[in-house]
This record gives sequence, structure tokens and C-alpha cells, in this order.
Amino acid sequence: MSELVSIIKQRRSANKFLPQVDISSHELEEIFELVKYAPSAFNLQHAHYVIVQDEERKQQIYEASGKQYKVQTASAVVIVLGHMDAHHNAPQINEGLLHLGILNQQEYDIQVASVQQFYDERGEVFKRDEAIRNASLSAMTFMLAAKDKGWDTCPMIGFDPAAVQQILDIPERYVPAMMITIGREDTGSQRIRGYRKPVGEFVSYDHF
Ligand SMILES: Cc1cc2nc3c(=O)[nH]c(=O)nc-3n(C[C@H](O)[C@H](O)[C@H](O)COP(=O)(O)O)c2cc1C
Repeated sequence: MSELVSIIKQRRSANKFLPQVDISSHELEEIFELVKYAPSAFNLQHAHYVIVQDEERKQQIYEASGKQYKVQTASAVVIVLGHMDAHHNAPQINEGLLHLGILNQQEYDIQVASVQQFYDERGEVFKRDEAIRNASLSAMTFMLAAKDKGWDTCPMIGFDPAAVQQILDIPERYVPAMMITIGREDTGSQRIRGYRKPVGEFVSYDHF
């Protein structure tokens, strides 16, 4: 089995974490060094991560997530945000290409203006969809990179986003796309792998 296949198959949503396991900032950094390669529309890199390790804040997040036990025992609680105004960063993101001479000034100006226009024309719902779509791709990369480094995760949507926003001082234009708890799974209480649809049931060719 290739390494990728084994990581995809071994990743499970952790049901319960072993308590008192620390994850160092170095280990988190190593994961994020891979996460940065996730794709994003126009390379705008909409995702932003808030790592919660402080016990008091973790307890508040636990309260805001329907008291899901795994939030308390996770080594860190990771909030994945999507930036609704990531297109405003198009000038900085494309600057390198300008300096390297890959884009000339005119091409750079067109690129920046067309990205702005793309988002502005499509409006707020699209900006929100984009924030969540791009953050979700980043989040999946995070979970696979974490698994590769021996960590277990659980993606979670069972939390009150407004409360989380307030507890962590998250600016209004950042949408919580999901929460990911990370730690070492207590495999003794691993759930049996849930039913998966056969491929023919979720893939169709040329028409629905
Ligand atoms: C967007 C999303 C939200 C989820 N929210 C929760 C959650 O709040 N609590 C939880 O225990 N599991 C949550 N899960 C985990 C799913 O239950 C799990 O992925 C699914 O049952 C398949 O199991 P597996 O990931 O082990 O293959 C969530 C998964 C996703 C993708």
C-alpha cells in the first residue's frame, strides 16, 4: 500500500483522546508546513487557524460545543476559519510574481483587479461559500498531515459558532468552517468504521 493510501485509510474520527498528551508547537508547526500547500481559489489562502491549548479557553470551547468530551481531552482544539475577504489580499499574494518578473506591472494590475471583481460581482453568499470551501480543503489537508505525523483528529461541526467567535476574539469577516480536535486516540473506544456507500452510488458519469 502506498503511504498516501494507508494514511487515507487509517484516518478515523477519534471518538476519545488519551488525556494529558501534549502536542508541542514544533509538532504543530510541522503539520502547518504541509497545510500551506493546500490549494485555494486564486491562491488566496482563505484559511486561518486558531489553536486552543489554554485550559480556561478550552473549557469555554467545551461548553460551546455541547460538552463533547473529546474537546476536554484533546491535546489541542483547532478552529479552522475561512476569510470572507481573502480577495483583498490579492495584491500582496501576487507581489512576488511581480518582483520576479513573472508578471509585468500591467498583468499584475489586471490579475488583482479581476480577482476583486470576481468576488464583488458574486456577492456575500459566494464569499461565505468560498471561505468555507477553501478552509475545508485546508482542514482536510491538516487532518491527513496530522495522521502522517502520528496524530489523530476529529472534525467537528457541533458547536455554537457565535460563542466560539466571541471566546476567541475572531474578527467578524472570518467564518468558523469547522473545529478539529487533535490528540492521541484512545483506540480502546474506537467506533467501528461507518457504512460507506459503494462507489457506483455516489459517482455518475456525464449526467447525474
Ligand atoms: C464537517 C464534519 C463535522 C463533524 N462533526 C462532528 C462532531 O461535531 N462530533 C463528532 O463526534 N464527530 C463529528 N464528525 C465526524 C463524523 O461523524 C465522521 O467523520 C464520520 O462518522 C465518518 O467516520 P470516520 O471519519 O472515522 O471515517 C464530523 C465530520 C465532518 C466531516
